[in-house]
Amino acid sequence: FYVDWDLMTAEKAGFDHFMLKEIHEQPKAYRDTIGSRIDGSGERVVLGEVKLTPQQIWDIHNIHIVACGTAYHAGLVGKSVIEQLARIPVETDVASEYRYRAPIITPNTLVIVVSQSGETADTLAALREAKRCGARVIAITNVVGSSVSREADDVIVTWAGPEIAVASTKAYTSQLIAFYLLGLHLAQTLGTQDATYIRETIEALQKLPEQVEQILLHAEDIKQYAEQIAEHDDLFFIGRGSDYAVAQEGSLKLKEISYIHSEAYAAGELKHGTLALIEEGIPVIALATQEHLLEKTVSNIKEVKARGAQVFAIALEGNHEIAKSVDLVFEIPRTVALLAPALVVIPLQLLAYYASLARGNDVDKPRNLAKSVTVE
Ligand code: G6P
Repeated sequence: FYVDWDLMTAEKAGFDHFMLKEIHEQPKAYRDTIGSRIDGSGERVVLGEVKLTPQQIWDIHNIHIVACGTAYHAGLVGKSVIEQLARIPVETDVASEYRYRAPIITPNTLVIVVSQSGETADTLAALREAKRCGARVIAITNVVGSSVSREADDVIVTWAGPEIAVASTKAYTSQLIAFYLLGLHLAQTLGTQDATYIRETIEALQKLPEQVEQILLHAEDIKQYAEQIAEHDDLFFIGRGSDYAVAQEGSLKLKEISYIHSEAYAAGELKHGTLALIEEGIPVIALATQEHLLEKTVSNIKEVKARGAQVFAIALEGNHEIAKSVDLVFEIPRTVALLAPALVVIPLQLLAYYASLARGNDVDKPRNLAKSVTVE
């Protein structure tokens, strides 16, 4: 039969690349992943697919989150989300390290593996090691029926839909949504947060899709900045708390498709080495959504500005303190600190996309990289 020669264009639904299409699909991915996992009153998360009984949740001593690449970065945010909401100690590990470091896993350890494809060799091996040691395993995956989903005890599916671009966008943000839901589910059971806090967090969660839409309306501003940084060979991302976790994802995104060297630093760690690399004109991208840490972040921004860095900040709207201290600010809609990662990463995805485009790279298929790594 006749196959449309331009099937790929059709599948891009009018976007130039799969990555841009997938960035724009995020409001839908958020809505679908939240789906019916919040009860009608908007006061509780209902995570029926997690079969852990309240007693089993009470018995959890610690949590290990294990993943690779972008999914690992979602796990870094997941650590702060679960620790803050449920007050259970969490470690996040790269699967290729975890599987060989003789991790201390007991039957009271909950292991959470995160994998878009559900087929990454190291993540699957880590899952098997965790099970061998008697841990219960929850998988957060985008592929129903994948190896990881078949072997885990419980599966939280991220309803991001197929992701084609090698650089992960909507899978990452759906993984964040999964962590928010899981964190709230654990907190409800353990009673670590009161009902008002849970309700307000759920309300803020439900607003995220619309807020992502608002950010996407300003893609042109990011494009202009991306065209400037496309001429640089090195740049830095800084942030504190969950901004640091997202900075690591922003840096990976930029590296993998624009081939610009970048490093993400915990802002407070700069003066222990990286400050030596700051010279006149170097771009520094400062994430400043964690307002309880703002004063500290601003003082780190001043340190790099004093050495000639050009600072581009991403902050919550109406933050005048940041605007005074940097060269350029991109504002994102206000949300609670816990959920800010799900918004602040959007401009970073756009930045990587437009920087890659400006450099004439193959955005959807970066050199040397594969979408799914099923061999070690
Ligand atoms: C590859 C992909 C990344 C992805 C990582 C983990 O490196 O290029 O985008 O984050 O694998 O993949 P997974 O399917 O396990 O999330």
